[in-house]
Amino acid sequence: MNPSRFQNPVFVAIDTPDLDRALALAKAVGPHVGGLKLGLEFLTARGPEGLAAMAKLGHPIFADTKFHDIPNTVAGAAREIARLGIAIFNIHASGGEAMMRAARKAAGEGVKLIAVTVLTSLDDRDLDAVGQRGTAAEQVVRLASLAQSCGLDGVVCSAHEIAAIRKACGKDFLLVVPGIRPAGSDLADQRRVMTPREALDAGADILVVGRPITGAADPTQAARAIAESLHG
Ligand code: C5P
Repeated sequence: MNPSRFQNPVFVAIDTPDLDRALALAKAVGPHVGGLKLGLEFLTARGPEGLAAMAKLGHPIFADTKFHDIPNTVAGAAREIARLGIAIFNIHASGGEAMMRAARKAAGEGVKLIAVTVLTSLDDRDLDAVGQRGTAAEQVVRLASLAQSCGLDGVVCSAHEIAAIRKACGKDFLLVVPGIRPAGSDLADQRRVMTPREALDAGADILVVGRPITGAADPTQAARAIAESLHG
């Protein structure tokens, strides 16, 4: 990836339907993060106007849209989201080659388009239940490689998947990694976590950090501490 674009690799996940709270959080932590990640909760509640209001703060925005539909529909959605001045958005690689190529073409080159491979909430048994053969680990690499061949810029992945994806997709593939927990912090519902430093050392490009920052008594201090832990 281009290192000058995301000098601070931390994107804070702002998971709230409340625009005022989202703006307040973003302003509080803005100086200590590299960007903002807005997901389905915020996007569904606040829509393009909410996204535009957040974009005005001037931080790169990762819209965690996770589009998955027929190629024509995803292309239309990709075109619209790319117009909103965001830095990154995503689609499900399992939507297939035609869908990914259509999204890439419609989004244009000014925005990073990345793929979700296998949701980290699914294990091998879940995949078996929906008729998918092979392990989650195999499926992650298969879908990451397919996304790359369709012109996508990278994938969202668990820190524990970085090594296998780097081996298959090389050093220029953008790896965006959630499931990050500073040492000693509450895991909440995340299971296999890494600290920010460990994930960067493992080869992550962008670290998505939510509750360790947004749920802290002092979000500004929490974001600053994470940023400092990356400079040591
Ligand atoms: O609060 P926490 O740090 O767990 O937030 C992580 C963010 O990354 C959430 O917005 C979550 O939806 C998102 N995410 C994730 N695991 C994935 C993909 C996205 O935790 N595999």
